[in-house]
Amino acid sequence: MDIPRRVEHQQTDRGYVPVYATGTVEQPWASYSKTDHDVWDTLYRRQRELLPAYACQAFLDGLDAFGMGEGGIPRFDDLNEVLGKATGWRIVAVEGLLPDEVFFDHLANRRFPVSWWIRKPEQLDYLSEPDLFHDLFGHVPLLLNPVFADYMQAYGKGGMKAHAIGPEALMNLTRLYWYTVEFGLIRTDAGLRIYGAGIVSSKGESVYAIDSAAPNRIGFDLERVMNTRYRIDTYQQTYFVIDDFAQLFDATGPDFTPIYARLADSSPVAAADVLPTDTVYQRGTREGFANGADN
Ligand code: PHE
Ligand code: FE
Repeated sequence: MDIPRRVEHQQTDRGYVPVYATGTVEQPWASYSKTDHDVWDTLYRRQRELLPAYACQAFLDGLDAFGMGEGGIPRFDDLNEVLGKATGWRIVAVEGLLPDEVFFDHLANRRFPVSWWIRKPEQLDYLSEPDLFHDLFGHVPLLLNPVFADYMQAYGKGGMKAHAIGPEALMNLTRLYWYTVEFGLIRTDAGLRIYGAGIVSSKGESVYAIDSAAPNRIGFDLERVMNTRYRIDTYQQTYFVIDDFAQLFDATGPDFTPIYARLADSSPVAAADVLPTDTVYQRGTREGFANGADN
């Protein structure tokens, strides 16, 4: 494995952190406070107890295989032992959100960037930017699933291509990430279950995404998803449902270039709308839906 060269220590607004030449940092494990570890333990326990009735089995299996709940914030090096052996992915610590091309390059090379810092105790239920709990608990368990792991890498490669094509293509691809990796649902024998990281890392949305009558739940269709706006300020108004990870991987295999061209000429679908062509599992009641612009 290539160990990045450590160039300098850097004073950031969250403390003094070793920064590598690659822009990733070293997880400053020793600098986590008791409060930080307690926040992890509290959130971990809360979601681990809730999710058996809501999350898909692959996610729950991944979580347990990592032993992320053994007390305190996990060390990335320990998780990487398990992850590397299973699917060849590895976690890298970062300060926060990355420029698109940098993020795509990480994914294309089977590196998943994880924010090293964790939210404050008063932010257990909501914060506006991804922290360690969202990134690690939400995203990393499924990287143990071989098909999902391959999908994430393919997404990274696709991201570089979309970036080169232009901002509209990038927006279409971002919507795909949003409605699958972040907010995806999957059909199982036990009913609809969650696989999206944005849902499993939120207690409120885990229950809402499965139990609420308000949102639409619609069968996954690649172009429909890539053409659908989304909300960043509320729970989702529509969730897209896959049959299994193979469906996701296979549907996204073909070259997207003609799709980007087609979508450039069509107007996007609003987050709350249901189309006559949709496979509808649940037509939402829209109760409590906020008015206002989608992304
Ligand atoms: N097949 C896509 C393309 O040609 C790449 C991709 C794969 C995008 C998987 C997203 C997910 O751009
Ligand atoms: Fe995320």
